[in-house]
Amino acid sequence: TAPNTLFKITRKTDGISAAERERIVANPGFGRAFTDHMVVITYTEGRGWHSPEIMPRQPLVLDPAASVLHYAQEIFEGMKAYRAADGGILLFRPEANARRFRKSAERMAMADLPEDLFLEAVSQLVSIDRDWVPAPEVGTLYIRPFMIATEAALGVKPASEFKFIVIACAAGEYFSKESATVSVWVEENAVRASHGGTGTAKCGGNYAASLTAQMEGKAHGCQQVLFLDAQERRWLEEMGGMNVMMVMEDGTLLTPPLDGGTILHGITRDSLLTLARDQGLTVREERYAIDQLYSDAASGKLKEVFACGTAAVVTPIGTFKSAHGECTIGDGQTAGPITSRLRQGLCDIQFGRAPDPHEWVKRV
Ligand code: COI
Repeated sequence: TAPNTLFKITRKTDGISAAERERIVANPGFGRAFTDHMVVITYTEGRGWHSPEIMPRQPLVLDPAASVLHYAQEIFEGMKAYRAADGGILLFRPEANARRFRKSAERMAMADLPEDLFLEAVSQLVSIDRDWVPAPEVGTLYIRPFMIATEAALGVKPASEFKFIVIACAAGEYFSKESATVSVWVEENAVRASHGGTGTAKCGGNYAASLTAQMEGKAHGCQQVLFLDAQERRWLEEMGGMNVMMVMEDGTLLTPPLDGGTILHGITRDSLLTLARDQGLTVREERYAIDQLYSDAASGKLKEVFACGTAAVVTPIGTFKSAHGECTIGDGQTAGPITSRLRQGLCDIQFGRAPDPHEWVKRV
């Protein structure tokens, strides 16, 4: 049930100067240039969601026995606010994030957060911190809604107390890279998710599980990691924090299917599949084997590969590396034409520069 009180708002009074903020927002990097405020809403069993607040961004006070610290009852979302040419601020498919958040909560035995409360919280934060939304040529405001189990109890059970929190940061490109493309490490041992696991939930544990592979990739000069399926270590699944798509010689867009229950239902993924169909491409959600990728890259059947996600947007992949060798996609250095067209099409809608036939964009 939604709380019947409005958000209590406490504004930050000792913030940085406008000039300092403008300097940060003009060159924000990713994930560090945090805004002034945060949303906090509390859940207590028997009482439901209550005490919605917007307050100056500050450290949390948690009991050291809080379940999140021990049993990882935690879920999150990633979404963005975009500055339109007229100065207005746009959200992209926010209700899809609200819906996915409820699904993640269900999988992790956490409190159900009504979608309208999620949406209201995000809109309120974006409104109060609107000066932190970068100019379109610089980037976006990255929004991070999340929920943690705060009950102080060491028994392994679903918590009875939670906090829903929303923070945000000014954000430029996710990848700091020298060329237009990234290199990807193909992880042949560790897996990210297995059937019946938590792969489709957006829970912190999935990302923690990706980090050793990410480190190994980094040691081999790669910025991302590609995970294979848990059973055969053969089929492409997803990357450390984004989905993967292939463009074949005949113009088909291919991506691993969601029905195995191990891949995150990316909103960028879904939007790109829709845009690709709109642009007349054939879309196939089918399993694709890593050996096939290597042989199709060598024969020229595989033309382009890219990573996609809220943070990554559409990032072309130039090279795959594994313990067994290396393979180059296209010229290895530049985005292919279909990757570029899809990225442009998506960004034009997100920033309000193009018609929005699917009504994805919501003005704050
Ligand atoms: C996003 O793309 O928003 C994510 O949540 C993934 C993370 C790598 C930043």
